[in-house]
Amino acid sequence: MSNVAPSSPEKLAAGNWKMNGTSADLSILETIIRDLAPEAGAGALICPPATLLSAAAHLSKATPLRIGAQNCHEAATGAHTGDISAEMLRDAGATHVIVGHSERRADHRETDDAVRAKAEAAQRAGLTAIVCVGETEDEREAGRQIEVVTSQLAGSLPDGATADRTIIAYEPVWAIGTGKAATPADIAEIHGAIRSALSTRFGAQGSAMSLLYGGSVKPANAAEIFAVENVDGALIGGASLKAEDFLAIHSALAAG
Ligand code: PGA
Repeated sequence: MSNVAPSSPEKLAAGNWKMNGTSADLSILETIIRDLAPEAGAGALICPPATLLSAAAHLSKATPLRIGAQNCHEAATGAHTGDISAEMLRDAGATHVIVGHSERRADHRETDDAVRAKAEAAQRAGLTAIVCVGETEDEREAGRQIEVVTSQLAGSLPDGATADRTIIAYEPVWAIGTGKAATPADIAEIHGAIRSALSTRFGAQGSAMSLLYGGSVKPANAAEIFAVENVDGALIGGASLKAEDFLAIHSALAAG
C-alpha cells in the first residue's frame, strides 16, 4: 500500500460476469484482449466466476486486461468449506475482488461489518477491493438514497483504506439487470455525496479513490454516464458478457 495518494482517480471499466461463464466463454476474453486499445487511458478488468480465474489470468498475462474475483472470505485459511480467501484469489491471478455486491448482501445476508472484513482481507492479500453500495427502490422512493448509501459506505470501508487498494461502486439495486439505468442527475447526486464522504474520512486518499457507477450500463448510455462528475468508470454486468459491448463501453470511458 502506498501512503502517497495518486493525483486523480484511475478510470476503470470493470466487468462482473456473476454466475455466468464456463471454459467455452474464455473466447470472450480472447476477443477483449485482442481488441483492447493499448493506448487507452482507462483500465479494463473482468471478474469471471472463481472457476475461471486461473485460466483467465493465464490468458491475460502480459496484456492490459486485469482479472478480478467476485467475493472472498474474510479469513486467510481455515475450516470454511466452500469458501475462498483473498490470498487464494491472488494466488489464482486476481488483482481485484468485488465485495458487498447487492446480490451478496441480499442472497447471503452480508452486513456492512461482513463487507468491511472482506475489504480488510483484500487489503491484507494485496488485492484492490471494489466495495459496492446502493439503495433499493423502496429506499429511493422514500427519499433515503443518500442516507442509505453513505451509511453503507461508512460501515463497509476499513479505516486506513487507500486509493490504490479501494474502489467504490455505486449500484442502485433497482437499476441492476433491469435495463433501467439511473439518470445522470441521480448519479451526480450520489457520486457527489460519496466523494465528499470519502474526502472527509480519508483526505487525499479519498479524493483519489475511483468511483464506478453500475446498473444497466451499456454502449448506448455509457458516454452520457461517463460525462457525469465524479464518475470514474463502470461496473458492468450483462454487457460484459459480450466482448463488443464491453469494448465499446471501455472505449467510451477512454474517450471521455
Ligand atoms: P448489470 O449489472 O450491468 O447487468 O445491470 C451490474 C452489476 O450488478 O454489477
